[in-house]
Amino acid sequence: MAVSLNPTGAPHHTWRNPANATVQRCKWALIALGLLPLARLVAGHPLGWLGANPIEFVTRSTGTWTLVGLAITLSITPLRKLLNWPWLLRLRRTAGLLAFFYACLHFTTYVWFDRFFDWPDIVRDVVKRPFITIGFAAFVLLIPLAITSNNNLIKRVGAARWQKLHRTVYLIAVLAVVHYWWLVKKDITQPAIYAVVFALLLGLRLLWWLRAG
Ligand code: HEM
Repeated sequence: MAVSLNPTGAPHHTWRNPANATVQRCKWALIALGLLPLARLVAGHPLGWLGANPIEFVTRSTGTWTLVGLAITLSITPLRKLLNWPWLLRLRRTAGLLAFFYACLHFTTYVWFDRFFDWPDIVRDVVKRPFITIGFAAFVLLIPLAITSNNNLIKRVGAARWQKLHRTVYLIAVLAVVHYWWLVKKDITQPAIYAVVFALLLGLRLLWWLRAG
């Protein structure tokens, strides 16, 4: 992309081509926004915002924010293309790591406060309860993506292999929606909304891929 220069020869910063410092500020803003749900949970405990069953509230909230984080991460590439804002790509890792952070909190809440580190019980759940099996698979698949999000590791793995590995995120998104769909008992509106959002995000990629091929 050509960068226009102003009369002094300095780059002319626009929405399409913001200064590095602006992108950095956007990254910090994303982190601050991303930590708000956690702040609500931490403050909500003493303030009594978490209702009659705080563990269930925390499990549901962290699960929801993992899913939202995944949706935001997956929407960065389509937004970048539609708006023609290449710098958005520089926020993708932060968004992905925030999703992983909430997945860790979600899993920890389950292991610690729901099952009290009763490992045989946890293994039984993972093997016998399909929605837990699927959620666990999604979580395990996120781990290599989080580990290889570091610049040194991207170099060590190699760009092509890194890209291939990170395509697992599509499978993770599908597993996450199935996990949610299977755990709701009656009203499937919420998981259905996520299913539509992910279908659109993945569908757009498929369309671009077919056009490019
Ligand atoms: C990427 C991984 C995961 C995602 C995106 C995810 C997402 C979600 C979502 C959206 C909910 C429902 C929230 C609501 O009711 O509003 C949920 C609930 C739950 N998840 Fe996960 N989850 C993941 C992994 C896991 C793992 C690894 C476990 C445990 C091994 C787990 C156990 C649970 C449990 C016990 C509930 C609550 C069920 C209930 O309230 O009846 N999840 N999860």
